[in-house]
Amino acid sequence: MSLTLVALLPSPSYAQCPSPSNEPATCKPPAPPGPPVPFQGDIGTSTRVRKSAFELTSVEVDRLRQAFAALRKLSEDDPDDPRGWLQQANVHCWHCGGGGASVENVHGNYWFLPWHRAYLYFFEKILGKLVGDPDLALPYWDWDTRGRSAMPPPYVVPSARSNSLFDAYRGVGPGQAMPPSATSPQEINRLLSLRNGASFMGGPAGSRQTGEIEFRIHNRVHQWVTDPTGQASCGLQDMGIFSTAAQDPIFFAHHANTDRLWELWRAMGGEQRLPADAAFRRRTWTFYDENKQWVSISVEQVLDSVGSLHYGYSRPSPGGRTDHDHATLPPLTTAPMPAPAKSIVKAPWSAQILTSEPQTVSAPIVVSSELALLEAGAPPLGPTVRRLHIDGVAMPPGGSTTVRVFVNLPGADERTPPSGPNYVGAFTIVPHHGSGHADVTRQDVAFELSAETEQVVPGSGEIPLSLVPLAGEDMRPLELTLEYQKVYVVTE
Ligand code: C2O
Repeated sequence: MSLTLVALLPSPSYAQCPSPSNEPATCKPPAPPGPPVPFQGDIGTSTRVRKSAFELTSVEVDRLRQAFAALRKLSEDDPDDPRGWLQQANVHCWHCGGGGASVENVHGNYWFLPWHRAYLYFFEKILGKLVGDPDLALPYWDWDTRGRSAMPPPYVVPSARSNSLFDAYRGVGPGQAMPPSATSPQEINRLLSLRNGASFMGGPAGSRQTGEIEFRIHNRVHQWVTDPTGQASCGLQDMGIFSTAAQDPIFFAHHANTDRLWELWRAMGGEQRLPADAAFRRRTWTFYDENKQWVSISVEQVLDSVGSLHYGYSRPSPGGRTDHDHATLPPLTTAPMPAPAKSIVKAPWSAQILTSEPQTVSAPIVVSSELALLEAGAPPLGPTVRRLHIDGVAMPPGGSTTVRVFVNLPGADERTPPSGPNYVGAFTIVPHHGSGHADVTRQDVAFELSAETEQVVPGSGEIPLSLVPLAGEDMRPLELTLEYQKVYVVTE
């Protein structure tokens, strides 16, 4: 087997997707008034308590709606006020490629969690300021709680512009639940039990390694809100594409929950697995605060949500019961190894195209002496694990899809249950921009092998890897072109 990396790739061949009609031509923030003021820690005395969006009292719903209405009004009255609705949505756009090559993308690497935390912090303070309530807290959409995978009612009822939490560019309606596998207890457990920090959070910006919290559930929810059938593959708007995602108020409840899962993972021992490198903690970003001050804040300053930022999460009722209790982790089982199918493509190091048909390829199990031949990855954070890599994943601009991944199960298709040791997980691609920005964003998708999956992956040799494009819970997409460059299992 040759390990020569193939540099020349065929360019993705299908038509580019149109840009969303509300994608801004530029999402550049208003010019800063001067050098940024360093963040000094939240100055309020009370801790803002973020509650489940399913548990808000009617007084709290009214207050939240007033705040979002004020934000929208500010945007109309003074489009240049950096605190207004569109300016705030554009902060997100700016950091997901809208700022060009000079602004590091906060998706697809370990900036994802701390940057979105800082963004939500300033956004929450602005909302509170606009309604004169410094205790106003963003609610979270706990899609991980049983029965709450549908959109929280205040955001969808009434489905009208009079409701400042409503957004017209959604595909889901009131009461519509996500495909069960997207937020199953097994899926959430799998995430919370990731042993290695880079698996959960992602790697340094240069490593291109996306964290599993991002490419699994976070991306899936983005896609689903706009395209619940998963059949659109193209042309998504608002939540379905990062350039406009923060124009939907549910974005902030979705990210509050993503942030809450980060807290839960850290409380379970993930605290030990935060990146140790100084570059991580010292990284700063700038935001306009609730008083229009241009403020710089570091990763170090957002790590302690209660102490530094003065917010925390209340547990969902009833009785704080969520399904991702570790007692529910499935027991280890050993599945028989099926014989490799004849149809396996033996070219794992060159570019491959995945269409809407499930595909099985052979993934080499790389031993450590071959490691130097691979691109530099993230430094290990926590225990050594084995990861299944699908590197260099790209779609034509604007394209979106979900793909399930199985090992040692040639012939797996969209009807194969997403459970058991052979099921590795699913990844969702959310486009950053429409075709106006023709850059193809490649990312590396790497799944930490669970103890259960380790039982069916040998120590060396090769293993059949099945990629199963998915629409909804068990349908095949009508159309798909997804490119990827390399697949392999590696110890890191
Ligand atoms: Cu910046 Cu949910 O994405």
